[in-house]
Amino acid sequence: MSGTSPSAASLYSRVEKVIPAIEWPVFAADIDAILRLKRERNAVILAHNYQTPEIFHCVADIVGDSLALARKAMEVEAEAIVLAGVHFMAETAKLLNPEKTVLIPDMGAGCSLADSITPEDVRLMRQRYPGVPVVTYVNTSAAVKAESDICCTSGNAKAVVESLGVPRVIMLPDEYLAQNIAAQTDVEIIAWKGHCEVHERFTPADIRELREAHPGVTVLAHPECPPEVVAEADFAGSTAAMSDYVGREKPARVVLITECSMSDNVSVGYPDIEFIRPCNLCPHMKRITLGNIRAALEENRHAVTIDPDLAVRARLAVERMLAV
Ligand code: 13P
Ligand code: SF4
Repeated sequence: MSGTSPSAASLYSRVEKVIPAIEWPVFAADIDAILRLKRERNAVILAHNYQTPEIFHCVADIVGDSLALARKAMEVEAEAIVLAGVHFMAETAKLLNPEKTVLIPDMGAGCSLADSITPEDVRLMRQRYPGVPVVTYVNTSAAVKAESDICCTSGNAKAVVESLGVPRVIMLPDEYLAQNIAAQTDVEIIAWKGHCEVHERFTPADIRELREAHPGVTVLAHPECPPEVVAEADFAGSTAAMSDYVGREKPARVVLITECSMSDNVSVGYPDIEFIRPCNLCPHMKRITLGNIRAALEENRHAVTIDPDLAVRARLAVERMLAV
């Protein structure tokens, strides 16, 4: 490991199974700079489970699914938060920490679900279904959250829907998540037509082929996958729920039907488990790199701002979710 600085070098053992030694020097200088900048700026890095291993395992202070990142964002004591994830996650962190600086290393880190719906669309849904509460997936803009009664994530969607004590809810914008939750509850769910561009590409035939090629494989799927895909899986849950499943059940062979970095990040902790790795990349998550995390800390960019009136309403929807 010549050419790496001591602190980055000491971190390499965490990722040696998923990052070839020849690639490590490329990361090491940025890792050391980020570790120093975090101390100097009193900053923490929150990273989603889809971040690449050198971010997830080497510079992040808090990792998790969308729900965990929202929960833990509330407990942060540092002055600045760098959100290694996509824009809606940074907005959620800012909603919960209006006084803190929240940075997103690349403003282009969006989400096809967040792009699928506008505040005007939500108002039209309310007109069409008067009195029906609106449950909004966190994968939306703060402006859409502000039009909603309560938010949910893939980790708590069923509990949120059922917490309202009503026979019917509008659930926006992920059609497949809505259908997958509808299959688990008596509450009638009115859905929108948004899809995750990563998970919508998986098909039931993919799962059947995997099972044929890898006998005995345990199939875990994210609930943003189409219901026909979830029906072929052994388990469906949020990114954290999939990771917990692996830790709890320790299947001999597993495939995670989700974004590619998940398997890299989870496999590091379970050297005896065989991870089969067909996956789809999220181009938005992959915009975040060590280089732009370093630049975010060096140049204080890109600070997330939210219109204060809108933030009050959006924050309420997120806080209601966190109270469930
Ligand atoms: P999780 O809340 O399960 O981490 O999912 C977030 C996401 O963007 C999945 O595509
Ligand atoms: Fe959005 Fe899908 Fe990417 Fe998650 S994986 S951030 S839902 S596009």
